[in-house]
Formats: sequence, C-alpha cells, structure tokens
Amino acid sequence: MKMTGNTVLITGGGSGIGRGLAEALHQRGNQVIIAGRRKSLLEQVTAANPGMEAIELDITDPERLAHVAKTIVAERPEVNVLINNSGIMQVDDVSGVLDDKVLRSTVETNLYGPIRMTSALVEHLKAKPEAAVINVTSGLAFTPLAMTAVYSATKAAIHSYTLSLRFKLRNTSVKVLELAPPYVQTELMGDHQKQDPRAMPLDAFIAETMDLLAGDADEILVKRVIPLRTSVGLHEVKSVTERNQMMEEAFSGR
Ligand SMILES: NC(=O)c1ccc[n+]([C@@H]2O[C@H](COP(=O)([O-])OP(=O)(O)OC[C@H]3O[C@@H](n4cnc5c(N)ncnc54)[C@H](OP(=O)(O)O)[C@@H]3O)[C@@H](O)[C@H]2O)c1
Repeated sequence: MKMTGNTVLITGGGSGIGRGLAEALHQRGNQVIIAGRRKSLLEQVTAANPGMEAIELDITDPERLAHVAKTIVAERPEVNVLINNSGIMQVDDVSGVLDDKVLRSTVETNLYGPIRMTSALVEHLKAKPEAAVINVTSGLAFTPLAMTAVYSATKAAIHSYTLSLRFKLRNTSVKVLELAPPYVQTELMGDHQKQDPRAMPLDAFIAETMDLLAGDADEILVKRVIPLRTSVGLHEVKSVTERNQMMEEAFSGR
C-alpha cells in the first residue's frame, strides 16, 4: 500500500502494536489519529508525537462508535485508512462453565468492534481515490490456542469477515488487508508479556510489518507467524493438538 500521505485512524493506538504502527506511520509522513478508552495513554502518545491526534473511544459502545466515526469524517475528511487494531485477550476454559462476561466482552470488542467500525466508515472510504482497511487478527485465527478459545474464535471470525470484505470491495478503491501478528511483546495479556522472551520484540515486529505493508500482499505475515498460518489445512486437528500440547507445557508452572 501507499506508505505516505495517508490519513490513518488506528483503534487501540494508545499502546502496543497500535502505538507502534501509529508512530511508524506518523514518522513516514502520514496524518495519524489514534483511538482508545484510556485518555491518559492517548495523551502520552500524542504528546510524544507532535501532530498526531487522538479521540476517546470504547469500541463496544455502538453509539459512541457512530459518533466517533461521524466526527472523524467531519473533521478529518481526508481519512482514507482504517486500522482495526483494538482487541482484548482473556484466558478462558471452555471445558467448563464459561464466564459470560469474558465471552461478551471479547466478542463485543474483537468481533463487533471492527465490523461496526468498518461499516461506519466504508461508504466514506469508497469515495476516496485510494483507501485501505487493515484488520488485525492473529496467528491464533488459524491455529487456536485452547486456553484462549473465545479470543481465538473471534480472530478466526475476523479472518473470515476480512475475506468476504475483500471480495465485496474488489472493484472499489478500498484495499482490504489482514495483519496477523505472532506472539509479540505487548501488555495484551498483562505486564509479563512485555518481557516474555518467547514473544517477538515489538520494534522488530513493527519494522518487518512496515516493510510488508509497503508491498502488495493481502495478508501481512511476518516470518514468525508463518507456521501458525500454514500448519492447518487437512491436518488441522493433529496440528492444533500438537501445538496446544506444546503451549500447555511451555506455560505450565507459571
Ligand atoms: N501482542 C500479541 O501477542 C498479539 C498477537 C496477535 C494479535 N494481536 C492483536 O493485536 C492487537 C493489539 O494488541 P496489543 O498486543 O498491541 O495489546 P495492547 O497493547 O493491549 O493493545 C490493545 C489495544 O486495544 C485497545 N482496546 C481494548 N479494548 C478496547 C475498547 N473497548 N475500545 C477501544 N479500544 C480498546 C486498548 O486501549 P484501551 O484499553 O485504552 O481502550 C489497547 O490500546 C489486538 O487486536 C490483538 O488481538 C496481538
């Protein structure tokens, strides 16, 4: 995709991967607007990156989401790239009674959120000469992690939605990309993840991702995520079982 001169809205741009992408795009001459719930984080990021803008958003609140989309279109009509990055990841146990709060919050944030945001902006994006929607899924969309079954299912659903969206927008100016990260050092599952040596360092992930975004791939897959993306197919059950056994061993005793 075109890597400069865009106006980019990034949900969840106050931390982790969203912040990394926001800063990398800002440095490359794009106008960046970040959105998220924590005002203090948004303020820290905009203060560190003069010219970047922020807007408070709880993506699970459909009225607020519609208001934010309208405000951005009114105040920043140049907006031509949407990065659906907001997400939460909670441990669950689907072998027992599921906590309904975990189920609802995960589906509302990770599945309804990006779909509603895309729906709110797609007509605007179609009117731009060049536009893009980038959905952040996960390697776990392809090979689920059983201890985050609901999370993995929402990411698989967004992968499927992205395929449909790409097909439906194929004759428009809107390019549809999927960014599926591997395990990356952020605070997605808590502070410990930032230091976990098994996770990919955030800077390296952002650098490789920016290089891939500059190309013309539909799926942005850094090298580390390829095994998760490709290990399924006809051997899905075997592959998911083996990987989850390995993950249970890796995470046991923590
Ligand atoms: N790190 C990984 O290992 C990894 C791997 C694969 C995929 N991903 C995906 O990458 C994306 C970014 O995650 P991350 O790793 O960078 O973790 P992160 O730092 O926790 O980022 C998640 C962002 O989502 C925002 N968010 C959460 N709930 C929201 C809501 N209701 N409304 C608006 N914003 C909300 C958070 O901001 P507020 O809390 O301020 O709202 C936060 O900035 C997620 O979609 C995640 O699933 C991450």
